Amino acid sequence: HVEVDSYINLHLLSDAKNSYNSAMDKIYRDSIAAGLPDIACSPAQAKFLMLQIQICNATNILEVGTLGGYSAAWMALAGPSVKVTTIEINKEYAAVASDNLVEAGLKDQVEILQGAGLDILPQLASQVESGARPPFDFVFIDANKQDNLEYFNLAVSMTKPHTAIIVDNVVRNGKVASAYEAEKDDRVLGARQLIEGIGKDDRVDATVIQTVGEKNYDGFLLAIRR
Ligand code: DHB
Ligand code: MG
Repeated sequence: HVEVDSYINLHLLSDAKNSYNSAMDKIYRDSIAAGLPDIACSPAQAKFLMLQIQICNATNILEVGTLGGYSAAWMALAGPSVKVTTIEINKEYAAVASDNLVEAGLKDQVEILQGAGLDILPQLASQVESGARPPFDFVFIDANKQDNLEYFNLAVSMTKPHTAIIVDNVVRNGKVASAYEAEKDDRVLGARQLIEGIGKDDRVDATVIQTVGEKNYDGFLLAIRR
């Protein structure tokens, strides 16, 4: 699977084809060098997010879980008028992300809000509700997995019909299908609560696409606001 990602990267994510590619690689390397965990999206996955944003013509993106800013940077590359608002609980990670985005020349397109998602998202929701902020037209959730359903519900409250919401890591090496695994690992439980919660939620329609590659066996949930 790793070899397949290498092959895809060679042909579809080369510097020759994407001038920004080396800047994205630098964010990845600098995040690892700064001691951040190696849990960012793969390049092919991050480009998938960028392309999804272009498909949706979205310009006002919400991300939960910045880490080193790798996926935020890729999403900002979807277009010059794209703005990304990204939430990071860890102060050191947020500082690394800020440096990375400055170096990539994307600082003006990305707003990093440092704090817990469960604190910041309700603040954003009241700003959207009052008109102080426009609704978000694309959402990527990739933070701690235990709170996925709450993040999702708060995000939905800040969107309009047809907005896409993508959630990372909902398959967890296949463990999502096992209630037994969920008892042992609350990140698996978080994925199951999300999928089962959305299954009962008439506001949205959703599916899950399983993924393999350099980030192992996992999956993206894609939901659309009805
Ligand atoms: C983990 C988190 C992620 O967002 C990811 O893509 C892979 C792993 C983790 O916390 O283990
Ligand atoms: Mg992830």
